[in-house]
Amino acid sequence: MKILFVAADPKPERWTSLIQQQLPDADIHVWQPDSPSCGADYAIVWHPPAALFDKEPQLKAVFNLGAGVDALVRMPNLPRDIPIVRLEDAGMAVQMAEYVAYHVIGISRDMDAYREQQAAGQWKLRRPIERSEWPVGVLGLGHIGQRVAKTLATLEYPVMGWSRSEHRLDGVRCFAGEAGLNDFLGETRVLVNTLPLTDSTRDLIDYSLLSRLRPDAVVVNVGRGEHLVDEDLCRAIEEGKVTRAVLDVFHEEPLPSSHPFWQMPQVTLTPHVSARTLREATIVQIAEKIVALEDGRTISGVIDIQRGY
Ligand code: GLV
Repeated sequence: MKILFVAADPKPERWTSLIQQQLPDADIHVWQPDSPSCGADYAIVWHPPAALFDKEPQLKAVFNLGAGVDALVRMPNLPRDIPIVRLEDAGMAVQMAEYVAYHVIGISRDMDAYREQQAAGQWKLRRPIERSEWPVGVLGLGHIGQRVAKTLATLEYPVMGWSRSEHRLDGVRCFAGEAGLNDFLGETRVLVNTLPLTDSTRDLIDYSLLSRLRPDAVVVNVGRGEHLVDEDLCRAIEEGKVTRAVLDVFHEEPLPSSHPFWQMPQVTLTPHVSARTLREATIVQIAEKIVALEDGRTISGVIDIQRGY
């Protein structure tokens, strides 16, 4: 069995040695743009070049090294007749949950103000947290969104979730579809985006949506930069509708140094680190799925290309 690893990692051997450990009989290749086809059965990819699918037409499945498959789905020559498989959790959901919880707690507990007080040598108690003032709304209730919502519910924040289709989740008030979005937004103060990027979610977080949130809103974007209309967030911040934003993903990454977000004190930004792909858990998951496919078993995590995730 031939496996092709296709990702812009300066040290691909960190991945290929793990693949070899999990699949000792596999013949593993690293993508080289100029070398001839290796006749790969499976490709393990992150943002692959379009040439991959022209050069390796016999692929039996493609495994994405991340949860979001938007970059793949966008490719016109992505094969339609083989499984395209996204990463399922593999240690990502808990990282997302802790990233979001860290920021929601920090903001709702006034941690920045305490840091400033410390710098000023001040011992001063601020108003204690009133949980009902911090309703959190999670956009997207996939693996990641559910984990984020449950974690915040465990911490006793009022939590709501919104998704395209109906969901039920203990301790989380769930809203669905276009009809449910307005009610969801009207009750949300802290908006957390974990949606997949598709044509129907692109630019979803615009001025009109931000205006429907509760006053002094907070936006946490751990989905994709393209979910958010940057100028609209800047405007909502200038107008005081949104008081804080925590952004981990951007239209262009690295975020260009001229982007206004860098200079805005209301914005906390991180370089797309809210959930890192963990090499070992990832390769174990992909190897198990390759073995299952070779045995003729069905696997989970196969995306619906039409739907976009
Ligand atoms: C990271 O952004 C991912 O999609 O896993």
